[in-house]
Amino acid sequence: MVEAADLRVRTLGDCRIASPLGGLVTRRGTTEHYVDESDRVLFDDTRVMLAARGSAEPPSFEPGGPRREIYFDPAGIRVGIVTCGGLCPGLNDVIRGLVLELTSHYGVRRIVGFRNGYRGLVARHGHDVVELTPAGVDHINEQGGTILGTSRGNQDPAEIVDRLDQLGVDILFVVGGDGSMRGAQRIAREIAARDRRIAVVGVPKTIDNDIPFIGHSFGFQTAFGKATESIRAAHVEATAQPGGIGLVQLMGRHSGFIACYAALATNDADYVLIPEVPVDVDAFLPHLRRRVAERGHALVVAAEGAGQEYLSRNGTDASGNQRLGDFGVYLRGRILDDFAAAGAEANLKYIDPSYLIRSVPANPYDSVYCLRLAQAAVHAAMAGRTEMVVGTWRSRFVHVPIPLAVASRNQVDPEGDLWMSVLEATGQPLSFTGGVRHPAAA
Ligand code: F6P
Repeated sequence: MVEAADLRVRTLGDCRIASPLGGLVTRRGTTEHYVDESDRVLFDDTRVMLAARGSAEPPSFEPGGPRREIYFDPAGIRVGIVTCGGLCPGLNDVIRGLVLELTSHYGVRRIVGFRNGYRGLVARHGHDVVELTPAGVDHINEQGGTILGTSRGNQDPAEIVDRLDQLGVDILFVVGGDGSMRGAQRIAREIAARDRRIAVVGVPKTIDNDIPFIGHSFGFQTAFGKATESIRAAHVEATAQPGGIGLVQLMGRHSGFIACYAALATNDADYVLIPEVPVDVDAFLPHLRRRVAERGHALVVAAEGAGQEYLSRNGTDASGNQRLGDFGVYLRGRILDDFAAAGAEANLKYIDPSYLIRSVPANPYDSVYCLRLAQAAVHAAMAGRTEMVVGTWRSRFVHVPIPLAVASRNQVDPEGDLWMSVLEATGQPLSFTGGVRHPAAA
């Protein structure tokens, strides 16, 4: 259970410098559309959740947004930006948002980009830095990928802080996933151990939406939107011929959000398979055969992390992530074998869009979200907050301590309302473990 102490954000010191944005916030107070810096955003939003706290202090997030006073003097500081891990739509929107907010609203003049993820922050790897200016980031948001390049894997925090010191960097923005945020935590701890005053602020990035307590991650919406194209194609193929089976595998690592949202967005899927709900393929196959026999076709959407218990382990990647086996290819084989053994016709069309869903530019919704996350990250850093990420909670921008954001993985809750929507939309059984049937199918 999240406690009040889990939501306390570390600061480098008191804010004593009048903020250039002071005029923007002076006379504001908390409303349903704005949270004053002196207020807090409650964690619990239902009576049952609040009652469960008893007399304990209700946990609350520090609100995001500009402050009346700031910690850093904008004219005197140098800022660094790094993008880490797998690609995600919106990375360039975040870089551009950070540069424009820093320059046009705070008057920061010295901003550098580090190349190729954390590698670019280690001098011995020999990557030069990129001077980032408003002109230099013009139109980059129209491109997928990241202009700074990226890499997976962690580097020695001591070497990284040496580099920050060498370059005179006062604020480091890390745009990355869970692994990168663990790296940011180690960097912030190394800075604290040296009693240095360098802020480390993260903008959480993952198409998998697997970082908790941040609302949802940027790029997720664009990615599942892009995935719908594959689902539509598979549905057209499956409905066009007898025994038509469309099978689509989608990214998401150990979380099934992309598969759930993309399937709900098209509302054509008969089955959604996700890592959070174990699938018994031997129980699934006869159900699929019945569905095809009854309706002439079926559409299956499988998250890449589903069914891993059927596949051999493939070691880990540079960030320590478990490499996934290819469940889509495995399931395709099982379906074809099963239908052949049963003498049933199967015209199976398999689509795995893979990297196609994350290498695209952000859609307009994500572009707005990226810009607002970048603005919130700059406000937090200028106010001397550190070892935190920006996010939203109940659609309020908030500051989330990194230890909390990396303590667990955000996953689809099989008892939650998202999975219930998927069960309602597909009509699939509660689970495929030995013939448990959906109440509605009774
Ligand atoms: O975490 C984002 C993601 O795209 C996952 O959905 C996918 O499993 C993984 O990265 C692919 O990793 P890599 O970029 O190392 O191939």
